[in-house]
Amino acid sequence: MLTALASGAKQDQNKNMAKDPTFICSKCNAATTKWSGKCDTCGEWNTIEEVKPLSTGPKSKKAMGGIRGKEITLTDLATTEKEPPRTLSGVGELDRTLGGGLVKASALLVGGDPGIGKSTLLLQAAARFARNGLKVLYISGEESASQVQMRARRLGLTESPVKLASETNLRDILTTLEAEQPDFVIIDSIQTMWLDTVEAAPGSVSQVRAAAHELTSFAKSRGIAVVMVGHVTKEGAIAGPRVVEHMVDTVLYFEGERGHQFRILRAVKNRFGPADEIGVFEMTGKGLAEVKNPSALFLSERGDPAPGSVVFAGIEGSRPMLCEFQALVAPSPHSQPRRTVVGWDGSRLAMILAVLESRAGVPFTGLDVYLNVAGGLRVSEPAADLAVAAALISAREDAALPKESVIFGEISLSGGLRPAPQTENRLKEASKLGFTSAITPVRAKRGGDAGVAVREMQDLHTFVEQVFGAR
Ligand code: TYD
Ligand code: MG
Repeated sequence: MLTALASGAKQDQNKNMAKDPTFICSKCNAATTKWSGKCDTCGEWNTIEEVKPLSTGPKSKKAMGGIRGKEITLTDLATTEKEPPRTLSGVGELDRTLGGGLVKASALLVGGDPGIGKSTLLLQAAARFARNGLKVLYISGEESASQVQMRARRLGLTESPVKLASETNLRDILTTLEAEQPDFVIIDSIQTMWLDTVEAAPGSVSQVRAAAHELTSFAKSRGIAVVMVGHVTKEGAIAGPRVVEHMVDTVLYFEGERGHQFRILRAVKNRFGPADEIGVFEMTGKGLAEVKNPSALFLSERGDPAPGSVVFAGIEGSRPMLCEFQALVAPSPHSQPRRTVVGWDGSRLAMILAVLESRAGVPFTGLDVYLNVAGGLRVSEPAADLAVAAALISAREDAALPKESVIFGEISLSGGLRPAPQTENRLKEASKLGFTSAITPVRAKRGGDAGVAVREMQDLHTFVEQVFGAR
């Protein structure tokens, strides 16, 4: 029976292969074998596009040379290069996010909202790398070369030997790259590039996918580092860049809230370094400036102790970072109270509210709950649970927590508190910024408190009782 199933599956596969080209929804990336006006998966209209295969493959059996001679054994690793060669830009925040510098023969994607500062960041990076001896080419499909030059002048980068070009025809670009042999190329943006072999408009999934494929293989075969800029559309549809994410070695997202000047470059995928590493920048009148002490920046707007405000000692990538959680709790006029979150996970908030109610006796029924991370930072660590719970209770009870205290720890569904990784680093950072006390889960081994008075709590119930009084 099993074998019959397997061969059936194979037949299906063959059938699908014969039906190439397939169709892809530009909104949700669902693949189908026939065109339709409406996507069956996400229900969106006019989003189905035809996608031709990237290459037709070898024409005959003869053309298949096989891979003999190209294989290596793991033991060969001892004799080959241990680390890929890297170049530093000299901008610490950028180099760290890249995993310790730019890797030769690699493809990167830098995604982000339009207007967030991607072109500015990459022009500044281009200038830095050029000054450090790399041959850099910046190709813009969105602005003319003189516009990019004007921007460079505003940023004070006119001394840097970066070559600029304005072009969208990828065939022409690749020909130029072949002749110029640069070390580092910036393509701004991948959505403006088009290949004459693909019959679709620039920006469509087919064009973006084909262009990214060409550029990625070019980067690998010629030993060039290629950065592609990808716009994320308003609705959060990243159909274009999403398909590119799988092809490239490194994916960086440039984030930030419109009203704030902070910008965060976040590595969400990195074949050459740790993911989740972040770089913090500030958008100034003269471009992006690195922020060397992000904790101080994220806490700079804090005033006197206020109910609902809690300082969380977090870890972003490889370094500790303090930030402020703010909560507001108010009686709800709605039958279904509001739960609004900015900078944290909405379903995690629902979980904390449920645990607070059933394990610690703090109900939020009939109350609207608003939670915000100050400064436009986005936190995804479970260790923020206890800080969130503290902010919620503090807002609900209208009782401010001591100003010089930091809080962290993960909450389990049973109401228990789990110790957070790198507790010592968190405490050290808190101490550096003048905090004198901390509330944390019980650790297996005490020590390394960095002069901070640590109060350890066994579970959420104890925490509520000891911090907010018996109820
Ligand atoms: P840009 O790099 O063009 O964004 P993207 O390439 O992601 O679309 O940045 C545009 C914004 O940045 C624009 O709103 C103006 C602002 N900006 C500054 O505040 N200072 C500067 O020095 C520069 C160059 C831009
Ligand atoms: Mg731009």
